[in-house]
Amino acid sequence: MKVLIYDDAEQAVASAADHLIAVLNAKPDAVLGLATGGTMLPLYQRLVALYQEGLVSFGKAVTFNLDEYIGISPDHAGSYHTYMRNVLFDHVDIDLSRTYLPRGDCEDAATEAAEYEALIGASGGIDLQLLGIGQNGHIGFNEPTSSLSALTRIKTLTQDTRNANARYFEHFEDIPKYALTMGIGSILATRSCVLLATGVAKAQAVAAMVEGPVSAACPASALQLHPKATIVLDKDAAAELTLTDYYHHVHPKGAESVWN
Ligand code: F6R
Repeated sequence: MKVLIYDDAEQAVASAADHLIAVLNAKPDAVLGLATGGTMLPLYQRLVALYQEGLVSFGKAVTFNLDEYIGISPDHAGSYHTYMRNVLFDHVDIDLSRTYLPRGDCEDAATEAAEYEALIGASGGIDLQLLGIGQNGHIGFNEPTSSLSALTRIKTLTQDTRNANARYFEHFEDIPKYALTMGIGSILATRSCVLLATGVAKAQAVAAMVEGPVSAACPASALQLHPKATIVLDKDAAAELTLTDYYHHVHPKGAESVWN
């Protein structure tokens, strides 16, 4: 795991954006795994700004989002389809026919999950997966006790996760109870991943992910098994880590390590 710690959220966001752009510029038809949530908003804003400056194109990219709520249609205001259109897809040169999210309004969620996983495979697999982390250590919607090898499937959301996402729905009872999510096994199969966490509310989950045991109690800890996982933090999200001196030593101010 590469742990990069920045002084503030703005620098952390810029670093995560740079990782994604480096992949896209090296391979314009890269397959990107995308995440939603509050942490990702400034990241997508930055990607849109970089696109407007002509520094990146999404024209040949293929994208797969991690998850979607079950029971709501793509045009629902709280859906992740809507989120992605609002924050990224409507503002860059992406070809919408190459953007994929699970359909929350599908007839049979189990079939939808299997087909989604198969589509990721048929696209050649994900080159770079973006991730956020929940306060309980979830990634995607893989809540604590999720299998660490599962593929895309149906998950029941915890009350805490429903509370955390209440801002996207008018009434609490409108918040879906179930979601389709790529599994930890799907995430571990990606060629590289970048997890962005900012703010002190994420500090405990980040410490469990990076320095705790690999455990389904903190699904994000499975990233310790990923061959190319980069964890991008601001100093608040890094506050509970104990090996901070080492991370700063290896990657001073988030820089790549240099041998000499
Ligand atoms: C959603 C997703 C989730 C979020 C996590 C953090 O696509 O991947 O795992 O990343 O719930 O959400 P925020 O950033 O809102 O705290």
